[in-house]
Amino acid sequence: MPHIWHLWYDVQTGALLIRANPIALKIGEPAMRYLIISDIHANLTAFQAVLEDAGTLGKDYDFVWCLGDVVGYGPDPNECIELLRTLPHLCLAGNHDWAALGRLDIRTFNSDARKAVTWTHNTLTDENLAFLEALPTTFVLGNFTLVHGSPREPVWEYILDPLIATLNFSHYVTPYCLVGHTHTPIIFRQVGQQGECEAVAPRYNVQAPLDGTRQIINPGSVGQPRDADPRAAYAILDTERMTWEFRRVPYDVGAVQKRMRQIDMPERLVMRLEHGW
Ligand SMILES: [Fe+2]
Repeated sequence: MPHIWHLWYDVQTGALLIRANPIALKIGEPAMRYLIISDIHANLTAFQAVLEDAGTLGKDYDFVWCLGDVVGYGPDPNECIELLRTLPHLCLAGNHDWAALGRLDIRTFNSDARKAVTWTHNTLTDENLAFLEALPTTFVLGNFTLVHGSPREPVWEYILDPLIATLNFSHYVTPYCLVGHTHTPIIFRQVGQQGECEAVAPRYNVQAPLDGTRQIINPGSVGQPRDADPRAAYAILDTERMTWEFRRVPYDVGAVQKRMRQIDMPERLVMRLEHGW
């Protein structure tokens, strides 16, 4: 059952609030710099490299939006959740987060993925399973809709090309939608009244203006990039200047591979990290 959470502005405190009955969470001020991450996939070394590269919390960024798949494939599921929880953050549910909870029938997964899911489920602490359990599937925050996969199918659908992106523009109402899931940084920009769109490749370390054109934006994957570039991917969103900046940072892939081999993860999952596929 998808959960749509709502956001409103508290005029007395100046805070943005999220309501998912019966709780409300303060998530930060209206205009700020967000560290945008997705698909960490239990890769602590890549996650730490991103945080180091992004700079200082409170100075270089104020809040973290994580677009799901914190766990799955990698060797550090508890450590990644616990590091994320030290940061002011909002996190969406990904398909691998749900798989780790046992919400999915993993008989449809290939044998490598099944092995990784089973190991992750058995390794996660009760507290971290409860964290994953509480993740929402869709979040609408001002000009931004946040999902893991797509606005049409928040946990499942891969937005891989302009045709699939075009079909999704009518499934959300904000100017911008942030997605993960494909592990590939890209922008799909609406260019016609009929919803047609173009794919725009990322330009790194450039603060590109968000000009009001409807866009579906993917920051890429922190822990398992699949665009033939093994470096960790992330982005910085500045909602005061309304700019988006793609970034990449190298990390010690070999250290992660060593930990994966120690827990007997399938070799195919180990090797793909160094190639970025
Ligand atoms: Fe993923």
